[in-house]
Amino acid sequence: MCGIVGYVGSRAATPLLLGGLKRLEYRGYDSAGVAAWQPETLAIRKCVGRLSALEQSLEQQPVAGTLGVGHTRWATHGEPSEVNSHPHTDCSGRIAVVHNGIIENYQELRAELERQGHKFCSQTDTEVIPHLIEAELKVGAASPEEAIRRALRRAKGAYALGVLFHDQPRTLYAARCGSPLIVGVGQGEQFIASDVPAIVDQVRRVIYLNDGEVVALRPEGVSISKLDGTAVEAKIQPVTIAAESVEKAGFETFMLKEIHEQPRILRHLLAQHGWQNGSVAMPDFGLGAPYFRKLNRMMVVACGSAYHTGMYGKLLLENFTSLAVETDLASEFRYRDPKIDPGTLVVAVSQSGETADTLASIRMAKSWGCKVLSICNVPGSTVARESDAVFFTEAGPEIGVAATKSFTAQQMAFALLALFIGRARNEVNEAQAQELLSDLQRVPDAIVYVLERREAVRKVADKHHDGPSSLYLGRRFNYPTALEGALKNKEISYQHAEGYAAGEMKHGPIALINEYLPVICLCTQTRDEVYAKMISNMKEVEARHGRIIALATDGDAAMPGLAEDIIWVPAVRDEFSPLVNVVALQLLAYYAAQARGTDIDKPRNLAKSVTVE
Ligand code: F6R
Repeated sequence: MCGIVGYVGSRAATPLLLGGLKRLEYRGYDSAGVAAWQPETLAIRKCVGRLSALEQSLEQQPVAGTLGVGHTRWATHGEPSEVNSHPHTDCSGRIAVVHNGIIENYQELRAELERQGHKFCSQTDTEVIPHLIEAELKVGAASPEEAIRRALRRAKGAYALGVLFHDQPRTLYAARCGSPLIVGVGQGEQFIASDVPAIVDQVRRVIYLNDGEVVALRPEGVSISKLDGTAVEAKIQPVTIAAESVEKAGFETFMLKEIHEQPRILRHLLAQHGWQNGSVAMPDFGLGAPYFRKLNRMMVVACGSAYHTGMYGKLLLENFTSLAVETDLASEFRYRDPKIDPGTLVVAVSQSGETADTLASIRMAKSWGCKVLSICNVPGSTVARESDAVFFTEAGPEIGVAATKSFTAQQMAFALLALFIGRARNEVNEAQAQELLSDLQRVPDAIVYVLERREAVRKVADKHHDGPSSLYLGRRFNYPTALEGALKNKEISYQHAEGYAAGEMKHGPIALINEYLPVICLCTQTRDEVYAKMISNMKEVEARHGRIIALATDGDAAMPGLAEDIIWVPAVRDEFSPLVNVVALQLLAYYAAQARGTDIDKPRNLAKSVTVE
């Protein structure tokens, strides 16, 4: 969602702002803007559409200045338009604000400010902030910082803010509550940004701001305070990601690069959590082995692709432990009364660690006295900081909007976690755990094999990409894989796709089948009782002249007579086949999107990090 970059120092601000905004493009946006301090005014440029339009406008009318803020907007309140783009200003144009989040009581605040004579020009919730700050300065706030604090004490909702004042030429102000914002600490210069990748080429030290903190950044240093004015000590931390990790490294898109990174990431996770003292090497997350022994229930909450991994995680945990496990969409869970008690471990799954619904679920679970373990990819993210324990997936920055490497890393995390908990509870014996772990070790090589055969997947995509719809069917461990395959397809190729449990076919979706509908059948669990059922479902599709694309295990003799096209994958243990199968489906969606000419890394309407509800 919206991206923020800010700079104060001695270099020209706008090129640095544009550079940072480009690195935030992956978050999704529909317009962009910058403000920079100039002796006579705060210069503001805004454009609808891609950053290249803003870049052109800045080339035609350059803006000097060594203090500035930039913003990419993902519209929530008000259509994408120049007037709704950020930065927004007060009546005098001498206070400029960029914002990520939603000010929930903006209508009430706006009405009050309008009654006082403030003039608004946009439909956004954000515009109340500069006017509120202006009003607080008028009624005697002692400093710009104090005016910001007073204004924010009145604002309800979520925000990450960057603020410029024309009469403060050496200070950039920022604040956060519920939306991500970090400070980049340099030598004689400081940055703010929505995340570390935005400024990873500029600084090696960062401060992760906490909710309710306001910061004043000057070239020589930063000072942080709480909304009540109490000073906060800045905790400076090193940047752990490399600048190259946010480059395409010769691939045509970030998504393709990230698909290819998967074997390495999974090998790394397996090496980190290999066999040690009769179990999977894993810290006990500060929860202690007795905690896992006493546990009676687990509740997995997540959104989107992370929810699909949660569904898979539930199956693994049920398979290898005696725990009752439930998975729910965080956006539903937060409005339920799930009757959970402190004996339930809540597992939150999130790549970004900033998803609003997942965070709300974590906060609810904690208020009920439950421990929260998160499976998260971004160190320093809000989910990671608010959880009692974190399993970091260590997949590195994921720039392509569609989740790929974070997805398989989460699947691997669940597999390792299930074995770890199974061992802790003595429900998996040592020999079984060793066997399972050695079966997991085969997964990265199997994925390499799928990647090497990508041209065969491309041929299938080229043949089937132009229809209006497609259906993905799977059972048991590969039911979540079917959902994820369909989600990947609709996200990046914009072709409508349905994922279904194959057993549900006769209860409705079979009506869709005709001689035009591609039906992707995940039929790799050859040792599982559901294999024969899956074959029966495929025969039902065949009988109705559906166009079967089978995802099948190398050498499966039943497939050639049944499917129009076959994507072969190497055999791995049934339980772990989703990690391999999903890579084939990522490629299928990728090549379909390429054939349909979409913007693969930045699909329309989508944001990488969904920081509002
Ligand atoms: C799909 C995708 C989204 C995310 C979802 C949750 O490709 O990326 O569905 O999985 O928005 O995001 P995180 O994992 O950051 O909480």
